[in-house]
Amino acid sequence: MNHNQELYLKAKDFISTCYVELGIDDKIETRLQHIKLEIDQTGNYVHTYEELVHGAKLAWRNSNRCIGRFFWQTLDVIDARKYETEEDIAEALLYHIKVATNQGKIRPMITVFKPKTQGRIRIWNHQLIRYAGYEHEDGIVGDPASVEFTKICESLGWKGEHTHFDVLPLVVQLNDRKPQWYEIPKDIILEVPIQHPDYEAFNDLHLKWYAVPIISDMKLEIGGIEYEAAPFNGWYMETEIGARNLADSFRYNLLPKVASIMGLDTSRNSTLWKDKALIELNLAVIESYRSAGVSIVDHHTAAAQFKRFEENEGKAGREVTGDWSWLIPPVSPATTHIFHQTYQDKQVYPNFLYQNCPYK
Ligand code: ARG
Repeated sequence: MNHNQELYLKAKDFISTCYVELGIDDKIETRLQHIKLEIDQTGNYVHTYEELVHGAKLAWRNSNRCIGRFFWQTLDVIDARKYETEEDIAEALLYHIKVATNQGKIRPMITVFKPKTQGRIRIWNHQLIRYAGYEHEDGIVGDPASVEFTKICESLGWKGEHTHFDVLPLVVQLNDRKPQWYEIPKDIILEVPIQHPDYEAFNDLHLKWYAVPIISDMKLEIGGIEYEAAPFNGWYMETEIGARNLADSFRYNLLPKVASIMGLDTSRNSTLWKDKALIELNLAVIESYRSAGVSIVDHHTAAAQFKRFEENEGKAGREVTGDWSWLIPPVSPATTHIFHQTYQDKQVYPNFLYQNCPYK
């Protein structure tokens, strides 16, 4: 099968599903004829705005590792396919940050740039907002997960302040051009100081985290069309920050400090000091986001919402695919129904896919 035939089959698959779900099945045949012609003439086809919007929502619905899929229909889709220059793209990214942040009432949102075939756009950041990491003689300052990308930013001419929470610049590449970097204005980055309602000494740790996780290095694939730049966000589940970003020994590694603030006996594993510290750190994250008026969900509520998603999908006659090891929360997994169930980790399209790292 040649490229055009393959693309047409993928398009057909998507258009059929999409149009049935949108209640416009009467238009399927005409649309497919157009697409066939377009593919024959150009080797490609262009999504309508409606197709792009629903396709992006389907990609979320099919994201096996996401526990937040109950909200898939609420995704705001920004059609940014008209942007041509690095400046335009960077501006659209800043717009995304502002609108998605929405003063704390976070809006699930995706900005879709030109597909691969129309000129390649790559965003080098893993997330639009993320903290830098620096290797210092006495250890890492900032987020260890960012060390490599931080070096890249520095090699491009960016300079950080070397705090634990320097927000990295946006790095945008067009085709084979040199990537351009853009500082994100501080006033559009919402951050939350992490405090604990009962342990005042928590403040002394001077912890904070950003409000909106905007994944920017995955490829969105709809009906065989590959959107390599399509940053998207939801809101945080507290464990992402409290049980992973701030807790993992290879990230901010804060459990020992939290335990010491709590006065726990850390001399033996069997005091369960890590578990106790973990719970209080997660509670601090929830309470801090709540009191700052920033959307966040706890893992019990998220699991309950995921249950409703499964029920909705069942009613619609669709199977829910999932990646169990990602769906279970890292804190008290067995208290959620997800733990006691199995999921088929099958790839359904449209979807979000990993793609090769542009700087490796
Ligand atoms: N786990 C990632 C982080 O801690 C974010 C992944 C996306 N999360 C989300 N709630 N949409 O930064």
